[in-house]
Amino acid sequence: MAEQLRAVRGMHDILPPTSAHWAWLERQVYDLLTAYGYRELRTPLLESSALFQRSIGEVTDIVEKEMYSFADRGGDDLSLRPEGTASCVRAAIEHGLLNQPQRLWYQGAMFRRERPQRGRYRQFHQIGVETFGLTGPDIDLELILLTHRLWQQLGLSAVRLEINSLGDSHERVRYRADLLSYLEQHQDALDEDSQRRMVTNPLRVLDSKNPAMQSLIAGAPTLLDYLGEESKAHFAALCAGLDRAEVAYQINPRLVRGLDYYNRTVFEWITASLGAQGTICAGGRYDGLVEQLGGRPTPAVGFAMGLERLLELIPKAQLHHAERALHPDLYLIAVGAKAEAEALVLAERLRSQCPTLQLLCHCGGGSFKSQFKKADRSGATAALVLGDQELAAGTIGYKPLRADAQQQPLALASLGETLPALLKSTQKDEI
Ligand code: HAM
Repeated sequence: MAEQLRAVRGMHDILPPTSAHWAWLERQVYDLLTAYGYRELRTPLLESSALFQRSIGEVTDIVEKEMYSFADRGGDDLSLRPEGTASCVRAAIEHGLLNQPQRLWYQGAMFRRERPQRGRYRQFHQIGVETFGLTGPDIDLELILLTHRLWQQLGLSAVRLEINSLGDSHERVRYRADLLSYLEQHQDALDEDSQRRMVTNPLRVLDSKNPAMQSLIAGAPTLLDYLGEESKAHFAALCAGLDRAEVAYQINPRLVRGLDYYNRTVFEWITASLGAQGTICAGGRYDGLVEQLGGRPTPAVGFAMGLERLLELIPKAQLHHAERALHPDLYLIAVGAKAEAEALVLAERLRSQCPTLQLLCHCGGGSFKSQFKKADRSGATAALVLGDQELAAGTIGYKPLRADAQQQPLALASLGETLPALLKSTQKDEI
């Protein structure tokens, strides 16, 4: 036998019935974003590596260690996108979308070569939202309220909101100097990564996940103490908005995020129920990025949520409900040469007459008994039974599969009219 090939480590197939959970979740988010006036943008999975180096930052885990980068056959340095913000900004500049405010969203696979574990994959899926051209804390608040509403709709309970302000770049310059001298005083206690980052990008030291570094990080100066009046007012207005909307939050002065483009507001929605990978949604403001990537200065703020993590948190009952969409209404059984020849044509006629009908046609022949078994396994509400005898009489059998009821003949000529009501009443009787 030939050697069996497997999916790449950290990348997963999504099979039924789980794929129905995904479709349901995507639909929920789609409906909510549309209701808030956001419009979808789709960008390529591959971009030039320079886009991510210039936006996420050279000295970040993502760019230093996690990108899937390669030279293509023409020698171009390309990367599979590790996130969606950079692509979204590139596309918005390239297509001239930024001469008016924009509320955009995207979804799809992202790629990071991290060590796979629960909640952390090498191909994972985000739905992200990016807004452009809006400066005030009101849009920051809208984004947080939108996510809060989504958690409620999805039935999530144990999620908490952490927020922080990273100030503006000139405020961070002052902070950076003080942080650097603090780190220099404690240089001996820094691990190898942090020693290196202290020189290249000291703020990234605060991002270290090494437990041995945590007390040192806790003692470092706090960026919030360095904010100027405008940054402070922006942050205070966001907090006041959250208070007014009665959304609970914690200010976490150590929240710096793992990507370099942020300024002012940053936030994360976190759960304790998923182990170490507890951030289900994260984002913030990135007012400098559009200009940094060659556009005109444009304020921006957004977030992205990880769908794998969200799906783990959604109550099982909700997901079970979503699986029902996989069950057909009807399973069409046909036995006998004439009936089998007629079945698919009849099915097409029914589909034209009842466009929302979920109809599964048996293919491959077999006895009534074996076809009924398959009808039952399909989860269908009822079977339509066509034999040569029924066909000659101009009828078809209707047999509920989940309710206690006899098979009854229905006139073929008026099937399109009788079926919908009959199905509805059978579904009510289901046991
Ligand atoms: P991020 O924090 O890198 O931010 O990712 C956002 C979310 O994606 C995380 O909170 C998590 O739920 C999910 N995620 C990230 N990495 C993985 C992984 N390896 N496996 C599974 N899920 C993962 C960004 O990507 C920014 N672009 C967010 C943003 C948009 N900021 C402003 N606009």
